[in-house]
Amino acid sequence: MAARVLRLFPGPPEEVALAGLCLADALHTLGGAGAPFVYASFVGSLDGRIAVSDAISGDSHLPVEITSGNDFRLFLELQAQADCLVTHGGYLRDLAAGRLDDVLQIGTRATDRDLADWRRENGLSAQPAVVIASASLDFPMPESIIRGKQRVLVATGRQAPPDRVDALRARGVPVFVAGGGESVEGAPLVRELGRLGFRSVYLLTGPRMLSTMLRDGALSRLYLTIAHRVVGGEGFHTMATGPRLEGAGRLRLSSLHYDAAEPDGAGQWFARFDPLRPA
Ligand SMILES: NC(=O)c1ccc[n+]([C@@H]2O[C@H](COP(=O)([O-])OP(=O)(O)OC[C@H]3O[C@@H](n4cnc5c(N)ncnc54)[C@H](OP(=O)(O)O)[C@@H]3O)[C@@H](O)[C@H]2O)c1
Repeated sequence: MAARVLRLFPGPPEEVALAGLCLADALHTLGGAGAPFVYASFVGSLDGRIAVSDAISGDSHLPVEITSGNDFRLFLELQAQADCLVTHGGYLRDLAAGRLDDVLQIGTRATDRDLADWRRENGLSAQPAVVIASASLDFPMPESIIRGKQRVLVATGRQAPPDRVDALRARGVPVFVAGGGESVEGAPLVRELGRLGFRSVYLLTGPRMLSTMLRDGALSRLYLTIAHRVVGGEGFHTMATGPRLEGAGRLRLSSLHYDAAEPDGAGQWFARFDPLRPA
């Protein structure tokens, strides 16, 4: 049976189909010329874990008990609405090591073929462009991007290793600077993506990028799935890193859905937040 979820906010509560929940947000229409709509998503546990670390290798990964098919469907719907995906060096290294699945293409699985059609019908290119944020510029280029003939760009800081910048450019990969130090910073990244003509930008990144985006007031929306599990564990990651965000960490709930079935009968909330501008 097709999955159903309960919309809790805005009320009154109503049961709705899961499929199409995020497509209804029409994220591809919300950005303007020079001002892309920038959104991120995370899945976390009740105790705030987005990743746990392996005690022996120290490698971190998403706890399998907070993943679910329903959450993945919504992830794919978010991805389908992007004309640009921002990923980072860490993800490309995890991908090459087989620690994470490749999610840089849309419509390549039986479960998301409909989203390839949706993109076509909504005037989006077959595949989004991929922007790789990296300070070290030490990452492998995934085969899938080359095979899919996706447009690829690299974003880095002004202090990036010049030999690696030159090596990427020599391979025909454009590199642009978005930040005065080693890292990519939120505001210059979004400015540059706007200049490049992107209108809907999905951040497939992690705690560092979320933090700089919030700090710079550069994030348009956050999607957060909270699985009703307490994960525990000694080593873990949460959604943010670095100095405290203070006022830049205020977000307002704009919708909340309850899925009672997944993951594994425990249930989860699908929450959507809009960052508040600093008072
Ligand atoms: N549950 C979830 O929804 C969720 C979401 C995201 C991540 N995670 C997991 O959480 C853990 C930590 O996340 P993460 O790997 O994304 O950690 P991270 O520390 O945010 O980023 C990892 C690497 O990506 C590059 N990078 C990230 N932000 C950058 C920036 N602003 N400028 C330049 N380079 C940047 C850097 O590597 P280089 O400079 O060397 O390229 C950095 O060391 C991982 O296990 C991940 O799988 C879970």
